[in-house]
Amino acid sequence: MRVLVTGGAGFIGSHLVDRLLAEGNEVTVVDDLSTGNLFNLQGARRDPDLPLSFQRLDIISTGLERAVAKAGPEVVCHLAAQIDVRNSVADPVRDAMINVIGTVQLLEACRHHDVRKVVFTTSGGCIYGEPTAAQLPVAEDHPGHPHSPYGASKRGVEEYLHAFHALYGLRWSSLALANVYGPRQDPAGEAGVVSIFGGRMLADRDVTIYSDGGQTRDFVYVADVVDAFMAALHRGDNQRLNIGTGRETSVSELFAALADITGYAKPAIHAAPRPGELQRIALDNGRAAERLGWRPATALREGLSATLDWLRG
Ligand SMILES: NC(=O)c1ccc[n+]([C@@H]2O[C@H](COP(=O)([O-])OP(=O)(O)OC[C@H]3O[C@@H](n4cnc5c(N)ncnc54)[C@H](O)[C@@H]3O)[C@@H](O)[C@H]2O)c1
Repeated sequence: MRVLVTGGAGFIGSHLVDRLLAEGNEVTVVDDLSTGNLFNLQGARRDPDLPLSFQRLDIISTGLERAVAKAGPEVVCHLAAQIDVRNSVADPVRDAMINVIGTVQLLEACRHHDVRKVVFTTSGGCIYGEPTAAQLPVAEDHPGHPHSPYGASKRGVEEYLHAFHALYGLRWSSLALANVYGPRQDPAGEAGVVSIFGGRMLADRDVTIYSDGGQTRDFVYVADVVDAFMAALHRGDNQRLNIGTGRETSVSELFAALADITGYAKPAIHAAPRPGELQRIALDNGRAAERLGWRPATALREGLSATLDWLRG
């Protein structure tokens, strides 16, 4: 199959590109390298026999339609995004330009060039608001609303996906990812608590937990997330699908597990909670199990060990 991956030089996107190529697909990556890195694709780019092409391009630029026309993809996996919640609060217009306008521009190109399906990437941690304890793990029909412009932009795109399907028959899936972790997640970034804690522990530096550490997250390993994308190429049309483990892990538990694996002996430093952060989240993955045949396969400790191995390298 010919597949175009936006954001394919990023953390999750580059793992998806590797898998698509390994399974015999022809891949075009569109990425502006704003947070992604060609280093993530170096394995694939070194092999001259692999059908991979790369276009450095901002999805809000006018070159996007030409890139889609040239690639002629059957499926587009759309991962390019402004992904920082705090940046979205500081500059909601820029967030919407990339995450909403950039996506609508991509959908226009898809319908003009006979793309069969778009697999969109949304955030299970940001689109449902703050669920009550009784609502956990949250299902796709949870009535909550986003608390950030980033969550709002991700949610808004789904309305366009519905509209483009109604108007042009363009099929879609929206994968609502939990907290994804694994190799290639930038330890200097804001998104990846596993990489941040792991990187600091390996360097024997202090680790700060904002609040008491009781806040919970649903940590899902990147290879499992890639499994969900691969299934969504063919299944789970025209709906949102939660991609998480359904299990809550507190930040303190995560700290303890990483400290145990690395032999880190310092206590955590606690700081004031950051405004706008969720207290608890976990995603019900029943729909993904039924419609995609997807279940997370990697135990947390196994995924943490693999991530630490990468950080050591
Ligand atoms: N990492 C997580 O835990 C998580 C959770 C939920 C949803 N997501 C979503 O998954 C997707 C991938 O996230 P990631 O964690 O791999 O982040 P990432 O920053 O590593 O990947 C995003 C990629 O998009 C590219 N990009 C950004 N703006 C662009 C633009 N205007 N034009 C072209 N390319 C652009 C970046 O250079 C980068 O390569 C995003 O859509 C994100 O919202 C991630």
